[in-house]
Amino acid sequence: MVAIVDTETSVRMRIDELRRERNAVILAHNYQLPEVQDAADFVGDSLGLSQQAAATDADVIVFCGVHFMAETAAILSPKKVVLLPDLEAGCSLAGTITAEQLRQWKAQHPGAVVVSYVNTTAEVKAESDYCCTSSNAEAVVRSIPEDREILFCPDMFLGAHVERLTGRRMHIWMGECHVHAGIDPDRLAAKRRANPGAELLIHPECGCTTSTLYRLSSGDLDGAATVVTSTEGMVRRAATSPAQTFIVATEVGIMHRMAQQAPGKRFVAASDDAVCPYMKRITLDKVLMSLERLSPRVTVEPAIAARARRAIDRMLAAGAAPAQAR
Ligand code: 13P
Ligand code: SF4
Repeated sequence: MVAIVDTETSVRMRIDELRRERNAVILAHNYQLPEVQDAADFVGDSLGLSQQAAATDADVIVFCGVHFMAETAAILSPKKVVLLPDLEAGCSLAGTITAEQLRQWKAQHPGAVVVSYVNTTAEVKAESDYCCTSSNAEAVVRSIPEDREILFCPDMFLGAHVERLTGRRMHIWMGECHVHAGIDPDRLAAKRRANPGAELLIHPECGCTTSTLYRLSSGDLDGAATVVTSTEGMVRRAATSPAQTFIVATEVGIMHRMAQQAPGKRFVAASDDAVCPYMKRITLDKVLMSLERLSPRVTVEPAIAARARRAIDRMLAAGAAPAQAR
């Protein structure tokens, strides 16, 4: 009898063989395509993936995410081969600030402390004092003495959220992620009306964060719990919350993971258009090809890596904050 194996299964089998042969680990971000997430050894948010990259004893890291994430892995594990299956997997937010722009900004604020979101290039991290992710931005900012001026880049919505949480005033770079900025408050309000009682899970990069929290606190928007947190915090909250229905305000790829972690619950996208074209460049075929060829590889120039490492180590030391309903 001839066994019929569909193409996806045979690609998965070949990936598994090569993963063993190469002693490789596959890390995937929560926004990756479902089949890529399912092939990964670890799926998580930026912080979790960095922690995995720092701790792994694999020789090869296949990074199913975007370029700045693979760069961070290469900085944390300089002796390992870090593969990004498609080098065009960039990030519109990371593209909003260059190292030269940051140097000019610093020159206007001598002595200020620079906090950069992990969605930045290695060169920008090298110019920064601290790096943070959406899961620890608040803790990182709180750890900076009150009397220090802070330059926060590049995401303006995350910056505004951290200001709200900490009561600190910061200078905030006016960058945004085109995917999250497009999740607008009116569409979100309509989803809420259509799903009364649904819990709202919001990523702090969203353009709707500020107005939604404002409307909730002013009583203008009735609401079950609203949780603003990182992608991994959103997944965890979906699994542990007593709610059965969730409106999910971030990239739609996360709903695959949520359905796995919280089976039987219902997830409604705040915006069906919230699809990151960069994350979606990584396909199972490209993962296989990168393992076969050990390319495309991401490396960071040692002098840049050494300077960026200090800010990244501070980010890892801050850990992740638990997600809280507000
Ligand atoms: P997380 O760190 O929350 O996974 O966010 C990364 C990202 O790129 C969000 O768009
Ligand atoms: Fe960058 Fe936005 Fe895509 Fe996240 S969703 S990787 S911030 S472009």
